[in-house]
Amino acid sequence: MKPEIKLHDKTFVPFIPYEKIIAAIDQVAEKLNADYKDSEVPPVLLCILNGSIMFTGELMKRLDFNCELISMKVSSYDGTESTGKIRQVMGLTGSLKGKRVIIVEDIVDTGNTIDSLVSIARGEGATDVKVCSMLLKPDVYKKNIPIDYVAMRIPNDFIVGFGLDYNDLGRNYKDIYVLKQ
Ligand code: IMP
Ligand code: MG
Repeated sequence: MKPEIKLHDKTFVPFIPYEKIIAAIDQVAEKLNADYKDSEVPPVLLCILNGSIMFTGELMKRLDFNCELISMKVSSYDGTESTGKIRQVMGLTGSLKGKRVIIVEDIVDTGNTIDSLVSIARGEGATDVKVCSMLLKPDVYKKNIPIDYVAMRIPNDFIVGFGLDYNDLGRNYKDIYVLKQ
């Protein structure tokens, strides 16, 4: 891990090392394997771009049931603040009609994004919608939608790395870093 990384005007310091992230993903994958092994229809992993790319990749290769992969892109963050307004920047790459959907997110913060995503998936005709997030900020999450699978819970800090960005930078780092106070 680097002692610090600089992205635009901000400095970030080590927070969660790669090995810990992977151990947490192993556990979530185990739960999904147990829950979906007897699924009659192959579920769809709905990868929410761009943040969830790395998590989805690590998660997928640990799943041992048949599944499809569909992506879509939304945006809600501006800098280090959640704006509350969700913009759909790229539509679904496949149909969710009649499918069991597992939304794969990088992080759930206020929950505005996941709220919209669940509505979109239901609106598109998904028969069953579950949420799998790499990270959850329980102190700020204010929705009632259950986050069915969570790899790690973190305090209300702004983080980058392992897919997460600060104004488009930082996604490539394999460890997670937190904003330096
Ligand atoms: P929410 O709508 O407030 O739950 O925010 C969820 C989205 O905001 C996530 O999909 C991320 O793209 C982004 N986000 C939330 N917290 C962070 C963070 O700490 N670092 C980077 N992006 C974040
Ligand atoms: Mg995101």
